[in-house]
Amino acid sequence: MKLRVLGSAAGGGFPQWNCNCAQCSAVRSGSSSHRARTQSSVAVGGPDDWLLVNASPDILTQLQRSPALQPARGARDTGIAAVLLCDGQIDHSTGLYMLRERGAKLPLWTTRPAFEDLSQGNPILRVLGHYCGVDWHEIGLDGQSFEMPGVADLAVTALPLESKPAPYSPHRDCPVPGDNIGLTFENTATGGRVFYAPGLGEITPPVWEAMSRADAVLVDGTFWTDDEMIRLGFSKKTGRSIGHLPQSGEGGMLEWLGRLPATTRKLLIHINNTNPILDEASPERRAVEAAGVEVTFDGLEIAF
Ligand code: MLT
Ligand code: MN
Ligand code: ZN
Repeated sequence: MKLRVLGSAAGGGFPQWNCNCAQCSAVRSGSSSHRARTQSSVAVGGPDDWLLVNASPDILTQLQRSPALQPARGARDTGIAAVLLCDGQIDHSTGLYMLRERGAKLPLWTTRPAFEDLSQGNPILRVLGHYCGVDWHEIGLDGQSFEMPGVADLAVTALPLESKPAPYSPHRDCPVPGDNIGLTFENTATGGRVFYAPGLGEITPPVWEAMSRADAVLVDGTFWTDDEMIRLGFSKKTGRSIGHLPQSGEGGMLEWLGRLPATTRKLLIHINNTNPILDEASPERRAVEAAGVEVTFDGLEIAF
């Protein structure tokens, strides 16, 4: 079984359409130490049938770059057996519109709060009802693993996270369990496990336990410092206030990752265009690599 990174950037992508910061400009001018990235999504399963985890605005480009997700067994066909969303944010849900030509209802797995946000504040699912429609399956928060019909040998376990729902959620400022989830993917044939949490504001004891039990962890790589967007003059909000734990500093993601066993593969994903680790020649990138932590890129695959 594989996990394929379809998009390794946070919302906005890299470069971001309207951004002329040093990093986005470097990508546009073809710098050899900056690599373009599409917005947050992974696929799990294979060889022919996959679970799409998060539906990025860049999904069409991502599918073009992923022939394994287009097995072409019929005149109209897809390798996407089902879709699961970690939250109801724009970067994880807008790609659902691009799947509207499907011949049958789209099997969709979300928590109830994400389903409500995508039916009310940002009613993508109501709009999709005029096209293929969705066959919604609620992801419970009881910690029970569930199988994914259509994707052999895959068991998924969801964990509620401390993070933030989208700005159009009625509980943006008072999050409820299920606004954001982390996921453990288990290959039931081998016992191999991958933990995936692109939006992770706090390492709570249950999150730490799930990370400790995984062979590989792909975790929130949005910001290097908490005040990164403020210092660049792009926002008045800290990373933590929008649900993303920064990598550097006391209690940061690198400190946590450093406590995992040396045998655990550690990777950062959902990386914002402001994060200096996207410059492969930067001291911050060298610090990440020296800590034994990988920076995911579009097309990276993990076998488990
Ligand atoms: C986030 O992860 O905080 C959101 O996706 C940000 C966004 O896309 O606007
Ligand atoms: Mn995001
Ligand atoms: Zn930029």
